[in-house]
Amino acid sequence: MALANDFATTLVEKDRIAQRVHELGVQIAKDLQRSVAATPAGQEPHIVIIAVMTGAMVFVADLIREMPIKLRIELVAVSSYPGTSVESKGVKMKSALPDKLANSHVLLIDDILDSGQTLHTLIDLINKEKPASLRTCVLLRKPGKAKLPVKVEYVGFDIPDEFVVGYGLDYDGLYRNHPAIAVLRT
Ligand code: IMP
Ligand code: MG
Repeated sequence: MALANDFATTLVEKDRIAQRVHELGVQIAKDLQRSVAATPAGQEPHIVIIAVMTGAMVFVADLIREMPIKLRIELVAVSSYPGTSVESKGVKMKSALPDKLANSHVLLIDDILDSGQTLHTLIDLINKEKPASLRTCVLLRKPGKAKLPVKVEYVGFDIPDEFVVGYGLDYDGLYRNHPAIAVLRT
């Protein structure tokens, strides 16, 4: 079954995503390299990317190929929009945090920042592991709602408060493979 009929509008086209992902990759790699250069003598300067599954899968796959630096990739599975829900049902950890985060430069990557619950929870957990630094990156950021204070260093695009799919984001598990960011036809 073709996907295209299911979308009302496209918010971010494929080419604009690619351009922005390239810009983010260059900027983030530069910032991480600067942190690594400042690592105190005697400490191994590891860079660890933590991708929030499943939504960040496509974004992270593209972003890491724009970052020509030594890094480890880890995954953390979290669920907040189970099945057909279009608002957060609370954050559920579905996997343990990766180990060996102490003294590492960590980059936490998610697909979208909405209420902030997902990143707020993860940032708290990761900070308990005492990383050398922690930065956060999202492809999309929605305005409004009762937002938790979440520090996000890198944002791909600010979008209106609509439920979007594509480029990793899903509705009931579908549409992650659509190459653009789209609003579903209702
Ligand atoms: P938050 O915890 O409310 O900030 O929501 C973040 C998580 O909810 C993201 O990791 C997404 O998986 C999911 N999410 C939020 N908004 C959308 C959307 O518009 N489409 C698909 N998933 C979304
Ligand atoms: Mg998610």
